[in-house]
Amino acid sequence: MRDLAPSASYDATRTRVAGYFDGSATRVWERLTSDAPVSRIRQTVRAGRDAMRAMMLAQLPGDLRGARVLDAGCGTGAASAELAARGADVTAIDISPRLVEIARARMPEGLAGRVDFRAGDMLAPELGRFEHVIAMDSLIYYTRPDLEVALDSLAARAGQVVFTVAPRTPLLMAMFNAGKIFPRADRSPVMIPQDWRRLDVAGLDRVGRISRGFYISECLRVAT
Ligand SMILES: C[S@@+](CC[C@H](N)C(=O)[O-])C[C@H]1O[C@@H](n2cnc3c(N)ncnc32)[C@H](O)[C@@H]1O
Repeated sequence: MRDLAPSASYDATRTRVAGYFDGSATRVWERLTSDAPVSRIRQTVRAGRDAMRAMMLAQLPGDLRGARVLDAGCGTGAASAELAARGADVTAIDISPRLVEIARARMPEGLAGRVDFRAGDMLAPELGRFEHVIAMDSLIYYTRPDLEVALDSLAARAGQVVFTVAPRTPLLMAMFNAGKIFPRADRSPVMIPQDWRRLDVAGLDRVGRISRGFYISECLRVAT
């Protein structure tokens, strides 16, 4: 049995991710996740992310009345809104308080009562148990050992965990390696491409990949 205590490197990555999304990236992220015009490259990212969210949400029942669902790293809350619309009791948590505020402001009025918004760590034990956890592109910055601990920790208190990794494609590996050679001045967190077959996590299965222009992401699922 693995030690589920988050490591110092998990904490360091989370702090870096929080600083980025709560600082220089808040406005960019707010715009990307809205209907406002964006560059052609970002249009591909937006389309890819819409397709990935649909793929992930298709892993959950259509009727979620009575189910507790954790949107782990909820960002501006698009998945939370869809989960609430299906009747789930949603906990929407993100390490960036500014993104949580945007998610709260965007939630349609009739659904707001279904969502418990929180700023904090998705692994916080006090969040309790869930039928489903969805973590879209929120675990992509963590090293393989930290990702494995996070998945075990989430799976220990959920029926299933649906999440994404950045796959080890030539494009994503080139971006990853360039980031290592030229550390970025804005301290944006570097995503770490993973070979999902090497993940040592019980109950792991591949759902599928979305590849649209600059958005490439792999959907995986841990069933408990
Ligand atoms: C690429 S964004 C995706 C946001 C959202 N899931 C979506 O798809 O629109 C990644 C998010 O994960 C959040 N995040 C990363 N690590 C986290 C952690 N340990 N606990 C809570 N949120 C975290 C970041 O703050 C950021 O908002």
